[in-house]
Amino acid sequence: MSTWKYSLLLVWVMCLLAGCKNEPNNSYTIGFSQCTGADEWRKAMIKGMQRELAFHPNVTLLYRDAQYNNQKQIEQIRELANSDIDLLIVSPNEDQPITPIVEEVFQKGIPVVVVDRRITSPFYTAYVGGNNYEVGKIAGEYINTLLKGKGKIIEITGSPKSTPAIDRHKAFMEVMAISPDIEVISINGEWEKQFAKPAFLKIIDQHPDADLIFGHNDRMTVGAYEVMKEKNLLGKVKFVGIDGLAGPDGGIDMVNKGVFEASVIYSPGGEEAIQKAIEILQTGKTNKETILHTAVIDSSNVRMMKMQTDKILSQQDDIEKQQKRIDDQIKIYNNQQVFLYVMSGMLVVTVVLGSLALYSLRENQKINRELKTKNQEILEQRNKVQEMAEKAQEATETKFRFFTNISHEFRTPLTLILAPVEELLAAKKSQATILKKDLQLIHKNALRLLRQVNQLMDFRKIESGKIRLKASQHDLIAFLRDIQLPFEGMAKKRHIDFQIITSLNSLPLWFDADMLDKVFFNLLSNAFKFTGDKGRIYVYVEQDSARNIAIIRVEDTGVGMSAEESKRAFEMFYQGQNAYAKGTGLGLPLSQEFVELHQGKISVQSKKYKGTCFTVELPLGKDHFSGEEISAEKESFLPEQLYLKEECKEEKADLMPGTVPVHEREYTILVIEDNEDLTVFLKERLQENYEVITAADGNQGMKEAFEQIPDLIICDIMLPDTDGLKVTSILKSDLRTSHIPVILLTARNTVEQQIEGMHTGADLYLTKPFSLQFLQESIRSLLMNRAILKNHYMGDVLPNPKASAPINKLDKKFISDFKAIIETRLAEPSLNVDSLCKDLGLSRIQLYRKVKAVLGVAVNDYIQTIRLNKACHHLQQPGVSVADVAYQVGFSSPTYFSTAFKAKYGVSPIEYKNQKYTPQE
Ligand code: FRU
Repeated sequence: MSTWKYSLLLVWVMCLLAGCKNEPNNSYTIGFSQCTGADEWRKAMIKGMQRELAFHPNVTLLYRDAQYNNQKQIEQIRELANSDIDLLIVSPNEDQPITPIVEEVFQKGIPVVVVDRRITSPFYTAYVGGNNYEVGKIAGEYINTLLKGKGKIIEITGSPKSTPAIDRHKAFMEVMAISPDIEVISINGEWEKQFAKPAFLKIIDQHPDADLIFGHNDRMTVGAYEVMKEKNLLGKVKFVGIDGLAGPDGGIDMVNKGVFEASVIYSPGGEEAIQKAIEILQTGKTNKETILHTAVIDSSNVRMMKMQTDKILSQQDDIEKQQKRIDDQIKIYNNQQVFLYVMSGMLVVTVVLGSLALYSLRENQKINRELKTKNQEILEQRNKVQEMAEKAQEATETKFRFFTNISHEFRTPLTLILAPVEELLAAKKSQATILKKDLQLIHKNALRLLRQVNQLMDFRKIESGKIRLKASQHDLIAFLRDIQLPFEGMAKKRHIDFQIITSLNSLPLWFDADMLDKVFFNLLSNAFKFTGDKGRIYVYVEQDSARNIAIIRVEDTGVGMSAEESKRAFEMFYQGQNAYAKGTGLGLPLSQEFVELHQGKISVQSKKYKGTCFTVELPLGKDHFSGEEISAEKESFLPEQLYLKEECKEEKADLMPGTVPVHEREYTILVIEDNEDLTVFLKERLQENYEVITAADGNQGMKEAFEQIPDLIICDIMLPDTDGLKVTSILKSDLRTSHIPVILLTARNTVEQQIEGMHTGADLYLTKPFSLQFLQESIRSLLMNRAILKNHYMGDVLPNPKASAPINKLDKKFISDFKAIIETRLAEPSLNVDSLCKDLGLSRIQLYRKVKAVLGVAVNDYIQTIRLNKACHHLQQPGVSVADVAYQVGFSSPTYFSTAFKAKYGVSPIEYKNQKYTPQE
């Protein structure tokens, strides 16, 4: 069953429970003002009311007892009227004093039911009670008949200010008046025995012969009976009372016991009063007068009356018991109902909360499911994006790798074109003009290609953020004039008016000459490319002191650009119709990058078919550069257009001062290079002076290095298997080869890459394209350094502290280990090459080449030199024989020692000792 169905069922059950109470909609409050509540008659009245009220649980009775006190009753009625009662029942103590307050209540709109006693006014809603006149009359007629119209009667009246007493007395006296033989003595008993008895006592002595005592109620009559009994005057006297109440000492009981002759019924009318009140409250209308019946109870009907009243009393008792039970049940029911309501409430709350919790749970599950699906979707999307990113990254990497590789690939053939061309151009023999022209053509185009490759490399550096600016101070005017020069020939040939226009003689400016050379060369190249013959190219240079900048404008009268082309001129790879960025499409974007690295600006104004003007603005001073960007020394750079000239100038490299001449061809050079052309080229050029061995990959190279122990290695970085960096680092950390100088060849030309190369222990890092002369000079220099080093280490033996050169740590350790073993084992004749090889873990040839390379001597010669050196020292000690010294320094025989000594020093050991040692006196 669904939650809402449970809720409906619950609501229905609660409605049912509420309906079970069966209560009328309206509830009423009735105020009841009683003149007195002490006697049995009044008690019977209130009991009757309560019985009737049991049928009307919606009615509340507020009961007030005035105790025969008029004032008290007035106050009580007022208090009830102010207590929001719906109806007032009043039994007035005395009519006169109570009438005004009753009228007041009635006038207020509160219905008033007068019971038993009356008021003097008609302003009440209804009256319920006996007819007291009738009661008095019936009593009189009965007594008259009983006394047969003759006798003495003592009448004990109720309070003469109360209407029952007045009406009863009046009617009684009217009946008595018709019987002249009846004498009536009336006394006031004030309705109660305690007042009636003394009043009766006062007069009885005067009337001991009284025939009948008539009391306005049974209580006062009993009082008279008791007095008569005490006075022993009972005899013939008869008693007649009013009320005829059931119960002990009630009128019926008195008649039944024969004490009273009769009692006239005067009904308390409690039930009737309540019925009347309810009728008024529910309907708003009623009969004004409800008179209760009366009758005489005497010996003729007392038995039946008693039986009936006893029965009634017992029934009433039962009713009361039932009522009490019902009340108890109602209480229990009410309690249970409250409990049930609370429980139901709690159940409803529980069901509602439970439903809410269930709903929340379902919603949560739903949301969780949705979240899970979304997460899955996001995950899938993320994976896709990641995959795409990885693919894109891979593609980029591949692109860059290809890009770098292709650039490298360009550089090697370029080297191969440029180097022989340089050589041929420089050679005096090849002066044949045609050949030279062709060579120049090759050279020019190779340079153009190289420049474009360089642009691509620059672009790559910018892309990877590895470009660094190195600014130093230059004269901008002189700098521009240098760039101007190579274009002048072309200008002249094509009759182009080409000038630098400036009022300045010089303009000091901080900039990276390499970068700005590229910028202005590019701008001028473009200008010449797009300006027709007889056109004009002006370069304006000025200083804007206010803005603290230098302004350079390159203005031409060329084909110009459209607005769209001008707008996109600095875009990477953009090539318009006649774009100034033609070629790689990188010239202008690179120029812009370079200018912006200088915190400057480059812009273009152009008009189609009119001409173009590029404006470069560069800040003066050097404050706009960071410390790292400033170079104290002028950075050397190879101007693009002067590349060839610069290379040629290197032809005659000076020898380092104070160097030891190198005996060429003594040395073996290992070339590790995978490019066959380059290998052949290098081999041909180098074998004039050196033994050259070659290897086509890294592993082969290492094998050769270990086997041949060459004197120098030239190694390319980009190799098929083990790359050049790895090869260098392996060779440099192996004792056998650690001493061999390594020159790394590469197209990788960033500073970081060069540092990486040097970290491997390489001695030199040459970037392609390289100058052959420079390479030759570097080889010579490195070999010379090795020679100096040898001298230095041999200096220990034959002191020659002429020079020092950097040496590899491993070699240093090798030298010290090698020397230490020789020192320790010097006295052993078994100290020879073989035992040393064992000690050092090297083969004979490896030891031989190592010692030869590092110390420049053969191992045996070295041991011999040390032995003889030590012998000189020992021979200077007193008391030592030549034979002793011979054994101390490891000669197996003193004769061989003497021969060797004399061969080295030209004197015999004994002669040496005698010369050096002079005993002290
Ligand atoms: C009770 C009573 C009755 C009498 C009635 C008259 O208080 O004295 O005995 O009949 O009042 O109001």
